[in-house]
Amino acid sequence: MTSNPKPIDMSAYWLPYTPNRYFHQHPKVMKSAKGAYYFDDHGRKLFDGLSGLWCSPLGHADPRIGAAIAKQYDTMDYCPAFQMASEATFTLASRIVKLAPAGLDKVFFTNSGSEAVDTALKIAIGYHRVQGNASRIRMIGRERAYHGVGIGGISVGGIVANRKMFASMMMPGVDHLPHTLNLSQMAFSKGQPTWGAHLADELERIVALHDANTIAAVILEPVQGSTGVLVPPLGYLQKIREICTKHGILLIFDEVITGFGRLSANFGADRFGVTPDMIVFAKAITNGVIPMGGVLVRGDIYDSIMGGGGQEQLIEFFHGYTYSGHPIPVAAAHAVLDIFESDDLVNRAKALEPILENALHALKGKSGLLDIRNIGLSGAVELEPVPGKPGLRAMKVLEACIERGVLVRISNDTIAVGPPFISTPAEVENLISALGDAVDDAMKSN
Ligand SMILES: Cc1ncc(COP(=O)(O)O)c(C=O)c1O
Repeated sequence: MTSNPKPIDMSAYWLPYTPNRYFHQHPKVMKSAKGAYYFDDHGRKLFDGLSGLWCSPLGHADPRIGAAIAKQYDTMDYCPAFQMASEATFTLASRIVKLAPAGLDKVFFTNSGSEAVDTALKIAIGYHRVQGNASRIRMIGRERAYHGVGIGGISVGGIVANRKMFASMMMPGVDHLPHTLNLSQMAFSKGQPTWGAHLADELERIVALHDANTIAAVILEPVQGSTGVLVPPLGYLQKIREICTKHGILLIFDEVITGFGRLSANFGADRFGVTPDMIVFAKAITNGVIPMGGVLVRGDIYDSIMGGGGQEQLIEFFHGYTYSGHPIPVAAAHAVLDIFESDDLVNRAKALEPILENALHALKGKSGLLDIRNIGLSGAVELEPVPGKPGLRAMKVLEACIERGVLVRISNDTIAVGPPFISTPAEVENLISALGDAVDDAMKSN
């Protein structure tokens, strides 16, 4: 049963990454969440088709996470992050290292993906500097990349709208690889496209242009999530790795979305068999319950920075946050990793992957669909835009999805899905069939 919600005063809250004026006309107010569902102020039950913002793979309100947070609050609600730490922070770092590819032996904690990206860029610069390579200051990002909203992140990011308003604030010395999406070559690929590995050679061109000795790092999302699940072509990431190694350039994977099981493996690095020098993570590490991010770092990068630190009483790396390794998110993260183990969640995601793939690709042939993409428990459909009105078609699909009881994520005219790992096969199929019907609705309405 649905009902008309009580009006609320929306005048003060400036919503992030939201068309605020449209929102005020079409508010979406969530009241509660349990398992794989949200409940909104109309009394509707909505399947969480994007796991929050890719951050809640275990679903919502798992009492085991709540209990861990409550217990930690009673034991120690805060511990200064500088010059001291709680024991659980050390053990969490060790657990994350155990899950990560071999060689990534250190963890620097932050509070968000954006902070983790900027932290990784600073570690790259610091490392080269202590190695005597202070000229290595350039960063290479990629078109259509999303690396959060810090100054470093928007500089290496490749989304025009995130960059043009802030051009004066950008980091200098940043170049971009081309993105890998080419609909004429790869539309409707299942999993990794077979075309496009050669696009990695663009990195050689950029290196030749600037000289390797000026380049600190390449940062990439293994799968570009925010701009619509752009899956790397077969062999592309391997080539990027080879070129970085050849030229002494650090490779950073931004796994804020792809980390912790989303690609049916612990990390995208495992899924693609490519080990970067650093991995940026956030989101799923606490199931989105409480903010936390971090950077996994190659052990010898840490050792170099320690070695360059001078006398032992002096700080080696001038960076950190008041809430780095905060005991409460640390407790949440331990509980999340316990649940990953006890409930075998990466394997549950893996078992759902073919169900999502089949359901999504069954939409092929629908009017208005330009592409369908998928990998792991993530997927996207790209819609033909309404001429002259970018994003409008997708907005209509979102509204129609909500009418049909499912939540999806829109970005321009792409719709992304990433269901919780606790979903049943029927829920995944129902999500995609509702999406297909919503696309039909949106195509009819103009
Ligand atoms: C790949 C990637 N990097 C960084 C971020 C930024 O994370 P946060 O919003 O926690 O700052 C995101 C957020 O979606 C992301 O997808």
